[in-house]
Amino acid sequence: MVKPDGVQRGLIGEIIGRFERKGLKLIGAKLMNVSLERAEQHYAEHKGKDFYDMLLNFITSGPVFAMVWEGDQAVGLCRALIGKTNSLEAAPGTIRSDFAIHTNFNLIHGSDSHDNAEREIKIFFSEEELVSYDKAIQVWI
Ligand code: GTP
Ligand code: MG
Repeated sequence: MVKPDGVQRGLIGEIIGRFERKGLKLIGAKLMNVSLERAEQHYAEHKGKDFYDMLLNFITSGPVFAMVWEGDQAVGLCRALIGKTNSLEAAPGTIRSDFAIHTNFNLIHGSDSHDNAEREIKIFFSEEELVSYDKAIQVWI
């Protein structure tokens, strides 16, 4: 999910391009505002932490661009492209290293496990919004 700072900074296309060029398959995407209720579900694991309120405020502060990417090891590959949470520790070439300065404004969220991906996809997408299709290029990836 491109967070509100990524949308405001005009980085949706840059970020989509990186996942596309990696060879992952986009099966769902939409620009949307996140309600407080959805934000609380999404960040349930962080409830009680000192930055929890800031997270809720931030993710509801403007539109996000939610995406579902499919592929072998998609969760791990996406996390690798995104980079570590703290921009100082993110490896050069990752999204957070290349474009983010502060941990609070780190541009993008990526699910951290297959189970969490399934959980989070259900929070933001209905089944009809996910598209099943073949890409002819797949045999070369
Ligand atoms: P997400 O993909 O956004 O979930 O990031 P992540 O998986 O790399 O980090 P994590 O789930 O641990 O934390 C969620 C978000 O909370 C991060 O993206 C940061 O914006 C914020 N965050 C995490 N740890 C800290 C922290 O120690 N301090 C502050 N201020 N923010 C934090
Ligand atoms: Mg996380």
